Amino acid sequence: MATIKAVLADKRLPVALHEPSFSALDQQLLKDCLDSGFVSSVGEYVDHFERQLAEYLGVDHVVAVVNGTAALHVSLLLAGVMAGDEVIVPALSFVATANAVSYCGATPHFVDSEPRTLGLDPIKLDEYLADILQFDGDVWRNRNTGCRVAAMIVMHTFGHPVDMDALNAVAQRYGLPVVEDAAESLGSRYKAKMAGTLADLAAISFNGNKIITTGGGGAIVIRDKNLAARARHLTTTAKISHPWQIAHDEIGFNYRMPNLNAALGCAQLEKLPGFVEQKRQLADAYIQAFSMVEGVSVFQEPEYSHSNYWLNVMLLDEANLVMRNEILALLNNATIMARPVWTLMHKLPMYQACPRMDLSMAEDLEQRLICIPSSPFLVRVASHA
Ligand SMILES: Cc1ncc(COP(=O)(O)O)c(C=O)c1O
Repeated sequence: MATIKAVLADKRLPVALHEPSFSALDQQLLKDCLDSGFVSSVGEYVDHFERQLAEYLGVDHVVAVVNGTAALHVSLLLAGVMAGDEVIVPALSFVATANAVSYCGATPHFVDSEPRTLGLDPIKLDEYLADILQFDGDVWRNRNTGCRVAAMIVMHTFGHPVDMDALNAVAQRYGLPVVEDAAESLGSRYKAKMAGTLADLAAISFNGNKIITTGGGGAIVIRDKNLAARARHLTTTAKISHPWQIAHDEIGFNYRMPNLNAALGCAQLEKLPGFVEQKRQLADAYIQAFSMVEGVSVFQEPEYSHSNYWLNVMLLDEANLVMRNEILALLNNATIMARPVWTLMHKLPMYQACPRMDLSMAEDLEQRLICIPSSPFLVRVASHA
């Protein structure tokens, strides 16, 4: 605890796990949006936000939606996931990753992580799929359940990119479309490419705890122009475009991001490169500080990546596992917010019966990880100490 306190300079208790950062620009754009009267899902800020985000990512098509979960849901539908399918999902993820699969009427099929990235393990996955999948001349099916395995979701845990080249190779072998759950990784890079641009479809979250926020919000990043048009249609209640008539041609979703949220997003995006820089400095400070402490380390980005370090995590050595809850209690009692990683999804009541592989690495990581305060401005506190 003393090490964390030293990094945080012990100035501003309580310390949250991740707080949003606002400035005059956020207030100015929000006021402008209020003054315009266009606060809902029609308005210029939604268009601006989508263009600004597309430019930042270097892509052509971005569709802003109400949250990251909705972005995942629609991405899976666009990937062709249907009721009765199975979708490959990391067991170590936030529950939204699996919930989005369930919203499609499909079943999450949980797979293991690797310690190098905290994301899907491409080698273990390849061996597992070779074992359980069988091609019926048309699609790949799980030989145990008979269900079509329709897609794979990769998630960049705490902002650290998965080994995408290796995972894409596995997905290609089985003709699986890949959806990137980039909810936590806006601003991270895998090799030279931005997270959120590494697959045909990606979902980003702008929840209040993310690197930038729109209050609540999300975005779908889509390579294909026609799929992007379909995403826009589906997320706008499938309304047929017409100057005054109101008609819909299928069951759509009321998922478009409101203009008010997009106004905040435009201001936040301006500051994103600075936030990434601050968060990398904070991670450096933690890494340095913990290099002197035995039995624990701070997780560092995989060698090929430039991570946004959305949440910093401590990794306890095997010998110190018994101390995890004690450390969590000490930090939280001292009003320094710390959290264990999510309870693995195959342990949650609604997902216990889902198909899964051996999840020993995810289970090991679940015991060893502790998330520690990671707001971008904390690094300023540290340097003013
Ligand atoms: C890995 C992951 N996937 C999906 C989501 C869902 O995003 P949202 O909360 O915007 O629905 C989140 C975060 O909240 C997340 O961390």
